[in-house]
Amino acid sequence: MHHHKDCTPTPHIEAKKGDFADTVIMPGDPLRAKFIAEAYLENAVLVNNVRGICGYTGYYKGKRVSVMASGMGQPSIGIYSYELFNFYDVKSIIRVGTCGSMHKDLHARDIIIAMGACTNGSFAAQYRLPGTFCPIADFDLVRRAAAIAEEKGLTYKVGNMLSSDTFYDDANSALEWAKMGVLGVEMESAALYCNAARAGKKALCICTVSDSFIYPEENTTSAERQSSFTKMMEIALEIA
Ligand code: HPA
Repeated sequence: MHHHKDCTPTPHIEAKKGDFADTVIMPGDPLRAKFIAEAYLENAVLVNNVRGICGYTGYYKGKRVSVMASGMGQPSIGIYSYELFNFYDVKSIIRVGTCGSMHKDLHARDIIIAMGACTNGSFAAQYRLPGTFCPIADFDLVRRAAAIAEEKGLTYKVGNMLSSDTFYDDANSALEWAKMGVLGVEMESAALYCNAARAGKKALCICTVSDSFIYPEENTTSAERQSSFTKMMEIALEIA
């Protein structure tokens, strides 16, 4: 779809123009969006609930901020981030997700700040570029996230992520990407970074390691994934 100026509400978001803050924090899971709004935001108002993709706008330490879910995978975050950047004038999107890790120095609950996002998907084919585009995060958001992680004494790494189109991968190919130093695998960052680049906006993905390909015994449960990722959310809220 091409970009028209005033097409709010959009096919996927019922909010009115102006309902979103300049920065949107974006977990994959709608229940996590609700959790962030209830636990951290003051005066949070529900601005979207189409398909249960809840979006809220409220205040964190006096600053207006929004939180909305992306759903899972590049097609899903591709739709929501496109509409937020291009139709709601959102300036920055900070994805807060979980990932698997292929790095020996990263364990469950450690943090990856995705400076770049490799992919096995074809999201960037639409741009018809005569080569391979490198989806990257906004440098200012990266350095602020790293500074906060440092200050909080968290175990984190900044580097490449793999945005995979398959969670259940027949070839177990995440391990192939590890030989190129790729730290983790999730399913959304590359599309988010492409949309930010195309719209001239800013994006970052911060992930908590939920499972390790090196230490499978450490894997977290879905209940832990729902509520135990406060550190990452605090980083996102601080830089918002
Ligand atoms: N693969 C893809 N996405 C993920 C994973 C994984 O192992 N863990 C959390 N999100």
